[in-house]
Amino acid sequence: MQESKWWKNAVVYQIYPRSFKDSNGDGIGDLQGIIRKLDYLKELGIDAIWLSPVCRSPQDDNGYDISDYRDIDSMFGSLKDMEELIKEAGERNIRIIMDLVLNHSSDEHLWFREARKSKENPYHDYYVWRDGTEGLPPNDMRACFGGSAWEWVPELSQYYFHQFSVKQPDLNWENPKLRQEIYDMILWWMEKGVGGFRLDVIDQIAKEPDLKITNNGPRLHEYIRELSKETFRKGDLITVGEAWGANTELAKLYSNPDGSEFSMVFQFEHINLDQQPDKEKWDLAPLDFLKLKQVFAKWQRELYRTGWNSLFWNNHDLPRIVSRWGNDKDYREKSAKMLATLLHGMQGTPYIYQGEELGMTNAEFGIEDYRDIETLNVYHERLDKGYQKEDILNSIHAKGRDNARTPMQWDDSPNAGFSEGTPWIRVNGNYREINAKQEMADKGSVFHYYKKLIGLRKTYEVFADGKFELLLEEAKDIFAYTRTSEGEKLLIICNFHEKEIPFLLPEGWSGKEEILIANYNEIAETEKLRPYEARIYRKA
Ligand code: NOJ
Repeated sequence: MQESKWWKNAVVYQIYPRSFKDSNGDGIGDLQGIIRKLDYLKELGIDAIWLSPVCRSPQDDNGYDISDYRDIDSMFGSLKDMEELIKEAGERNIRIIMDLVLNHSSDEHLWFREARKSKENPYHDYYVWRDGTEGLPPNDMRACFGGSAWEWVPELSQYYFHQFSVKQPDLNWENPKLRQEIYDMILWWMEKGVGGFRLDVIDQIAKEPDLKITNNGPRLHEYIRELSKETFRKGDLITVGEAWGANTELAKLYSNPDGSEFSMVFQFEHINLDQQPDKEKWDLAPLDFLKLKQVFAKWQRELYRTGWNSLFWNNHDLPRIVSRWGNDKDYREKSAKMLATLLHGMQGTPYIYQGEELGMTNAEFGIEDYRDIETLNVYHERLDKGYQKEDILNSIHAKGRDNARTPMQWDDSPNAGFSEGTPWIRVNGNYREINAKQEMADKGSVFHYYKKLIGLRKTYEVFADGKFELLLEEAKDIFAYTRTSEGEKLLIICNFHEKEIPFLLPEGWSGKEEILIANYNEIAETEKLRPYEARIYRKA
């Protein structure tokens, strides 16, 4: 089937199901909860929902450890609920994008339970095994969540390889039978009307542990092309691969306009700009703003007509952007709107993470209130290494994944209207001031600003196809760029900081042009920018 590329004008909304809306009072969000909130999403104007994993899972890594790819975990509902969600969303012109976790399964998946029975078992080779001696793993590779990447299985006198937790054994993509099982499963979901897929850590599937290669293995693009040909290309889907190891050259392969791989990838170059070089994300450094501009400009330039960008600040693994690079105290609303303007003016498909459209903030908890496996592991690992408790918590407050996972703030009733039971993780204490009900009623809210931005993308083609040019590359506070297509031009200006700064419009702009959106009501002055001020001008 020829792809229609509808996703070039689309805006995607990410739902982290366990934290979105609980319909049955067990404290965990579920599919019926999402169905109840579809009208809210329709009102916002999004085109597709990316659902973090809802398949059956022991939840060692909140569903990124799947034990049955063809069933829904009972904590979220049933297959029938999923079918209902696809249908109800479809009636509102919203497509459902599922999260495919194909690098690893759960150790409780039937395949792995069989695989560890014997070396002769037909499923044994679905995973990555190496012979060895207890206590002497094949090499010193580390798992992303801490500890060795090798786990000893005494019955087999073998180690299995896991890039994430020990309960997430890596799948062996070298095995054609495993690949075929995966394709069959994807086709089965496509039959059910799923509108696309997000592919978890897809650049890690072609690992070569003997060579200590995790991402970008030699056979990676061969596998992806086969996967795409056998599945996605048979439908009209949006596909987005998660690729921490992508550079622009690789992204051109992944998002090749010929459709041979994916629609686009999530790359993380901008996301890594506030950590110390060659260290972990927990090793904090101030954001290098000039670098941020260079990185965005490079991606915009390089992928113009040769690929396609995804645009995001947030997801379920990242801290809240308004706390991270905005100002969640004195300028929460202004800075949230500025960050949205900066991102949504660019070329690519924007992704909004639940609560971002409200300007939801990070949550500072004590260690006892965190639930994330990565957070808990790093806390203990760093304590053992002699780090100070306060320093570890400081890093967790800034970068921990649970910042994104606190319950969605619907209203000012108990538990923010998320659940009538006890939420699986604490609600952010600011829900009485920051919540959907209040923002929907206030035309000046962050919610209405996002709604307007989404609408603009649907009204003016230049948002999808205009060529990007960065202005004022060396300016320390201003992020400004133009987008140009035939007969239409946009100027996007953002003051990235809280200082008021002098500013003159660039040549060719008088200030009399149409202002499509701005985060201050009165544009009285064109010679300065107020704290976090953002505007989009248009001329045709
Ligand atoms: C990336 C996912 O986004 C993250 O939440 C998960 O822990 C790892 N992949 C492992 O699946």
